[in-house]
Parts: sequence; structure tokens; C-alpha cells
Amino acid sequence: MSRVETLIDRCRAAGQGHVLAHWDGLRPKQQANLLAQLDGLDFELLKTLQGLIRQGVPTASSQTFVPPDVFPLVRDDTQQREAARAVLEGERLQAEGKVGFVLVAGGQGSRLGYDGPKGCFEVGPLSGRTLFGWHAARLLAGRARYGGGGPWYIMTSATNDAATRAFFEEQDFFGMDPDDVFFFTQRMLPALDLEGRILLSAPDSLFLAPNGHGGTLEALASSGALAHASARGVELLSYFQVDSPVARPTDPLFLGLHSLASAQMSSKVVKKRSADEKVGVLGLVDGALGCIEYSDLPDDLRGATAPNGELLFHAGNIANHILNVEFVEQLTSSGLNLPWHVARKTMQVFDPEEGQRACDGVKFETFVFDALGQSKNSVTLEVDRRTEFSPVKNAAGSDSPQTCRADMANTFAEWVVAAGGDLPAQGPDGFPLIEVDPRVAECRQEFLDLWPLQAEDLGGGQLYS
Ligand code: UTP
Repeated sequence: MSRVETLIDRCRAAGQGHVLAHWDGLRPKQQANLLAQLDGLDFELLKTLQGLIRQGVPTASSQTFVPPDVFPLVRDDTQQREAARAVLEGERLQAEGKVGFVLVAGGQGSRLGYDGPKGCFEVGPLSGRTLFGWHAARLLAGRARYGGGGPWYIMTSATNDAATRAFFEEQDFFGMDPDDVFFFTQRMLPALDLEGRILLSAPDSLFLAPNGHGGTLEALASSGALAHASARGVELLSYFQVDSPVARPTDPLFLGLHSLASAQMSSKVVKKRSADEKVGVLGLVDGALGCIEYSDLPDDLRGATAPNGELLFHAGNIANHILNVEFVEQLTSSGLNLPWHVARKTMQVFDPEEGQRACDGVKFETFVFDALGQSKNSVTLEVDRRTEFSPVKNAAGSDSPQTCRADMANTFAEWVVAAGGDLPAQGPDGFPLIEVDPRVAECRQEFLDLWPLQAEDLGGGQLYS
């Protein structure tokens, strides 16, 4: 039996014969493309995914929710001493090259609607520095401050891998040693219609979507990144997302608290603005730590308050984690076991009979925070939202390029005022045109310690670089 016949049989047996119904009308190159994708399909997994559409994702009938212990932003004396010790530990780990950095940039960025990898999007309030540029500057800053920075692992997906690598080449790796930058791609999964049939995006292509940021763990193992990290003596991975340029992956406090607690996976959180803010919060569900999605937290608990008046469930997840290399090895050694999340979407698909058309279907993802439940110990560190979390998700409105630029510029302005400096004029978007390169200072105290500083005049704005 030829390779094509075998595949046709396999697809038919799996109830997916329709994807080859137009086979004879395809050109040889198109046939080769489609064949290559079908060859890579995991038919066993496909059965599991089809089952999820039929049954829905199972949820326990009566769950208990308990808020996690949070290492707070406002600290008492004991916590301040603990934090000081942790900072030293975090600095030591970096100086000894024990920390690697994992940036997840495989998402589709559909809400932003930018044509290209999201990391190439420009967000510097004055310089127009790109998201990738901010992350690189922060890693370089860490190397200069603590010495011995570990490798940078960057997860892409099939759709943006080539463009991401080309951008790094074009930017000369932002001044990093290319040997310290390791690209790896996550797996793509087919989208299905509501009957579980594979959808096509073009005559010669399945409708494929990245398998969610939970796919990072599997991809770290299968790409050789984990082995690379071990060979380089890396013990901890600092995980962060492409869309928030203010994330601080080299933060010694976070690394140190995690290490001193002998934790396997830890998280940074910000205080929820209100009970109705639609963010996932960290909490224990039936005793296991995880991220509780907004809609999964019962109404009475969503607004419940502690005796001090604060929300009981206030620990908003910002997707900054530390993971031990050993923990990821353990999670992935015999097949990763993370729950599936099913997202229903309307997609533009190719139909062999009707051509392009809209179709309701489902995509499947796993989420990295679902691994928290398998972590023996875990630290939940509260950080200041304004200075550490300002993602670019939407094209306009909340969490957009405008809010991100304003958050950054207002933070920098606050540092300058605290230092006794003068502010530049407000720009057209209502915030002062001011920017501080992370290599100069990454937090208020560092900036104050360096004052007086000379700013470069850039179009009437102040650039501290
Ligand atoms: P989001 O959940 O914001 O998804 O990803 P997204 O795909 O980037 O954007 P939308 O929802 O289509 O608008 C949060 C982070 O996780 C990464 C993203 O690149 C971003 O850094 N991510 C998400 C992946 O790396 N892979 C995925 O499959 C999903």
C-alpha cells in the first residue's frame, strides 16, 4: 500500500476522510504539503480531543476554593528580612549561571491584530523599542548587574518562527551572544468543527493552531532545550510572556524566594483591581494550587473579603513563573498530563465544496499554570501592577499599546520626580515623553541610587540610556 493510500485509510478510519476528498484536484506540491501535515497528526490525541467536544471538559461537582499564601508587597519586619536574604540568593543564582530564561512568544496575537510576531511590535514610549527589544535589554541588564546570566529560550510557533528568527538576525540579537539564544517551537494542533471533523484553512493545509502556553513544557523537553539547560548548569527557568515589556525575568527577589522555599514552580501575582476584574486568580482548588478562571470562581467567593477588607481571592495571575529544570523534566518524562481547555471560535475555513467560509469550531490548548498543582512547594509573590505588569493584548482600550506606553512613561516620570528632576513636556497621548533603559535602572531605587543622571534629548523627550 502506498503512503497516500495508508494515510487515506487512516483518515477514513478516524472519521476524517473529508480532508482528502479534493485530493485529485490538488497540484503535486499541494498534495505534498497536505500529506506532510497529515503524517504529523497524532490520531490517538485526535480521539481524545474529539471526546472533549462531545463531553465537555470534566469538572468536579463540588469544589473547594481556598486563597493561597501570598508573600505581600507591603511587608512587615520579618518579611523584609526574608526578602533581603532572598535578594542575595537570587543574585547568587544568577552570578553562578544557574538561571535560564524562557520567553513564550508562540501565541497568535489575534486581539492585537498586528501583522508579524507580537515581539516585533514597538512599544517604547519614546524610543519605539520593540517588545523583544525590551526583554533583551532586561536580560542584558541582569547580566551586567549580577554577572553570569544563563541562556534565553524563546518559544515560537510554526506561524511565527521564521519571522522571529529573521528579526533577531536583523537586530543583531540585540547585542546578546547568539549562542545564548535558543529558539524552539511549540506543537500545533488541528482545529475541529463542532462534530469533531478536522477543519482546513486552505486546500493544502489543515487549520492548525498553537497548543497553548502549556505546550512550553513539552516543547522545552522535545526541542532539547531542557538538555541544553542542564548541560549549561541551569537549574531554574524564569518564565515570562512576550506581551508585557515591564516583566522582570531577572528579579532576584522572586528567584531567591523560590529557591529558599525549595519550591518547584512559583508565580508572581498582582492585586485584582476589583471583584469584577476578569482575571484568573491563584488559589487552591480541592487542595491543589492552580489558576482559577474568572468564570469558575463562584459569585459569593469572587466578592468575599478578609477581615482587613481586602478581597479574599485577589492574587491575579500575571504569568511570570519560576520552574525548576528538574520539575519540568519530571513533568514531561512520561507524557505531560495537563488538562485541556477548549475554546469555541468562529474561524475562516476552506471548504472543498464552498471555498472560504466562516465556521464555528474549537481549538485546544493547555495552560502552563495548570502545572502548579503538581509542584511540591510554591511561592506566590505579590508585585506592583503598575511597574511589573502592563500587557499589550488589544489594539485599543484596556491592555493596549496606548495603556502600556502610558504605564511605562508614568512610572519613569515618577522616578524622576522622586529624584528631584524636571519632567519633559507631555506628549500627544497625554503622558510625559520619558523613557529609562532597563540597563540604567529597572526599579525606582536603582534609579534614585544613580541620581543625578543626564538624559539624552530625543525629540523634546528625555531618554535615560
Ligand atoms: P495570550 O493568551 O494572550 O494569547 O498569550 P495570544 O495568542 O498571544 O493572543 P490572542 O489571544 O490571540 O490575542 C499569552 C502569552 O502566551 C504565549 C503568547 O505568545 C503570549 O506571550 N502563547 C500563547 C504561546 O506562546 N503559545 C500559545 O499557544 C498561546
